[in-house]
Amino acid sequence: MVNADPADFAQALIRWQKQAGRHDLPWQQQGRKRDPYRIWLSEIMLQQTQVATVIPYYRRFLARFPDLARLAAAPTEDVMALWSGLGYYARARNLQRAAQEIVAEHGGRFPQRIEDIEALPGIGRSTAAAIAVFAFGARAAILDGNVRRVLARAFGIDGFPGEKAVDARLWALAGSLLPNRDLVAYTQGLMDLGATLCTRSKPRCGDCPVTARCVARQEDRVATLPTPRARRAVPQRSVTLLVLHRRGHVLLERRPPQGIWGGLLSLPELPAGKKPRRYPDAVPLPVVRHAFTHFRLDITPLLCKVSRRDTPEGSVWLSLKKLDEAPLPAPIRKILESLT
Ligand code: ADE
Repeated sequence: MVNADPADFAQALIRWQKQAGRHDLPWQQQGRKRDPYRIWLSEIMLQQTQVATVIPYYRRFLARFPDLARLAAAPTEDVMALWSGLGYYARARNLQRAAQEIVAEHGGRFPQRIEDIEALPGIGRSTAAAIAVFAFGARAAILDGNVRRVLARAFGIDGFPGEKAVDARLWALAGSLLPNRDLVAYTQGLMDLGATLCTRSKPRCGDCPVTARCVARQEDRVATLPTPRARRAVPQRSVTLLVLHRRGHVLLERRPPQGIWGGLLSLPELPAGKKPRRYPDAVPLPVVRHAFTHFRLDITPLLCKVSRRDTPEGSVWLSLKKLDEAPLPAPIRKILESLT
């Protein structure tokens, strides 16, 4: 199903942001001229940290470094000290480097062109766009982790967003959705939606302004979009296990205490590459597949009717009537139950 008109998506989001979104965050500076330095600082702090954690750090940082020139001139240890506790310290080092670069190359004035913003240390494509929108009213698309999730769901975009092709599709979509006006409310709305309603787990679709046109919602795929990273292929092993059978009993051996199925009873294994020469009439039973954490095991049981009950050391003959009481791994139990 295709999402409705992109213009509707933007308008619904803008209306919702104005009514229900966040308006009093310290970097939003209601009624004041927007200061690119403050907006930049907030976007860097918010890159990997939640709003509630950021606010006190943001206030302390600005009290100590009220403008770009003072940040550029400060001892790096002072910058790091004010960052301590926020984590991802490369952000703080890049912040000061960028301030020094702006002093050296842009006369101390924060650059307005999006390419110049993105060229600064620590500023990627999405952060550059957010700064350009919030500080200079640019018309540019953001695409951070939250926005990827919102768009993947709203427009039913399949595929892991870390993949190049999926990423390119999401950027193209983000660009095509941009409204012609109200870019601040629109951009803030995308962020607010991703942070407050369209969350990774337990999203609140009932309160969402675009729920009626959300593809994931319509197709009941909210829980599976965005597509998670493909899991590494698990190695697969195959074994042949001997089901030595005589008069309602099978031969089981105790597994060593360490390793898989430690201490349980299991079927003897036909060593890899060996043919069951001793059992010319052996009959293969259906393969039983079992998933362990780190590998997958395909078990081929080989049913061998034997004429004598020899009992090797560490083995026992178990009556098929007593499977319930025996300490058996699940796939072995399944094989033996198929015989009863
Ligand atoms: N996360 C990143 N940027 C943000 C902003 N400007 N407001 C709220 N959360 C954000």
